[in-house]
Amino acid sequence: MTHAYTEQDVEDFFDETLPNYLGFWDSDGVLHTGYFSGDADSNYPAAAERTSAMLAARAGIGGSSYVLDVGCGCGNFLTYLAGHAGCRGEGVDLSEERVKFARQRLAAVSPGQQGRVAFRHGSATRLPYEPATFSHVVSQDALFLVPDKARSHAEIYRVLRPGGIFAFSDFLQPVADIGERARKHVYDRVRWSGGYSLAGYQAALEEAGFEISLADDLQDHIRQTYRVLGVTARERADTTQDSAAREWMLTFAQSCGEIQAAIDRGEFGWGMIVARKPDNAGA
Ligand SMILES: C[S@@+](CC[C@H](N)C(=O)[O-])C[C@H]1O[C@@H](n2cnc3c(N)ncnc32)[C@H](O)[C@@H]1O
Repeated sequence: MTHAYTEQDVEDFFDETLPNYLGFWDSDGVLHTGYFSGDADSNYPAAAERTSAMLAARAGIGGSSYVLDVGCGCGNFLTYLAGHAGCRGEGVDLSEERVKFARQRLAAVSPGQQGRVAFRHGSATRLPYEPATFSHVVSQDALFLVPDKARSHAEIYRVLRPGGIFAFSDFLQPVADIGERARKHVYDRVRWSGGYSLAGYQAALEEAGFEISLADDLQDHIRQTYRVLGVTARERADTTQDSAAREWMLTFAQSCGEIQAAIDRGEFGWGMIVARKPDNAGA
């Protein structure tokens, strides 16, 4: 049975899960799928950064770009873009706790970017920006969580300049019917009501007025991500003295196994899409 999570459910979940994520797993708060160099590659941090580099290259982000990261979480992608491409940007996220952390991290790690990068609490469905503000909108593994996706597509289209680029990675729901096991362990686990297949995503974006430049099915990379994270979680569980951390790691390792099984059953996937707002579009 499908659960319909509200934006409030999603916001509460991403607020509440931040302290354990930062404390037990990744003190930088990176939370997206890696792009691996092959089956033997087990370096998740490098793979996660490779995803950012690929999206930036595919979007064509450069020094004169003004970029919005929707669902920016702890702000890592935007600080990566400002550091590597030299662009300006804004990040928006539904979780106020993650936005607070993104601001603190920016001040601590990249104080020189503070005039060029800013983070705001807000939703993809009510973007707090004027029409035609950004040259690029990007997002990593966040838009699947939006219950009203037609509304977030319309908002992203609105804040992009004519000719602007929307480039993102996202979780996919490749088939309409999801079994109980994947529903419980993969979808409900992160308050995800449901999403698109890769073809369905393209159709929905075209419906919103975008032209599709690229749509890449990256299922092997999400499987590898959860394989590598599951191994890491078990190794860390074996070595930590902290019982709460150990419990967290073992639960996460179990989820990683369930997620891989759902991918193998065709019930979960990952893709990257680059779309364009037409030059002749009204703002
Ligand atoms: C899996 S995390 C990805 C975070 C970040 N992009 C990264 O790569 O680390 C998903 C993020 O989407 C945010 N989110 C969910 N629904 C949203 C919405 N309607 N508007 C803005 N952000 C949203 C969550 O709060 C969370 O920070």
